[in-house]
Amino acid sequence: MYSVKLMVEEHDNILNLLTVIKKACCGIMDGQEVNDSDFRKIIEFARNYADKHHHGKEEQILFREMTDRLGDIGSKLIKQGMLVEHDMGRLHISELEKALNQYKDNPRTEAKLGIVTEAMGYANLLQRHIDKENLVVYTYAEKNLSPDVLESVDQRVRAFEAEADMNQIQETYIKILQELEEKYSASLL
Ligand SMILES: [Fe+2]
Ligand SMILES: [Fe+2]
Repeated sequence: MYSVKLMVEEHDNILNLLTVIKKACCGIMDGQEVNDSDFRKIIEFARNYADKHHHGKEEQILFREMTDRLGDIGSKLIKQGMLVEHDMGRLHISELEKALNQYKDNPRTEAKLGIVTEAMGYANLLQRHIDKENLVVYTYAEKNLSPDVLESVDQRVRAFEAEADMNQIQETYIKILQELEEKYSASLL
């Protein structure tokens, strides 16, 4: 199915961001300075690509069909699982931004700890979240939604992608991700 294939590819991009986050945090643990501008780029990618672009399609299109059509199990899986985790991700990112601002104003170890804690909280949460979607949630949708609903999901996802493409969303954020990956390619985990 087109939509699931596309969203699994987006997961791969998000997982690459998580590797960058881990490398940046390990650098801080090893005594390197906090790179404010790299963390701002991480936040931008997390908000605009992982959340708005990727979670946007899940929440507005695929997950909506699952909660409406797959009974109690589908509804619980999405509402109490996936949507709660999207919210927790948003919270980690806004707390990360706060810690970065605090560190900029007053570079104390406590703020540095906040940066690493929130960034790694986000990375670990999203890692588990993506594994669950790839292995359980998307598979469940493909098996249990009817072919005409799946077809309509595909159509709406194609329209969402076309609009994002007009605004150069994919191009802009993949470029930011590639620059970060290149910069941290030599860092070991
Ligand atoms: Fe999700
Ligand atoms: Fe996802």
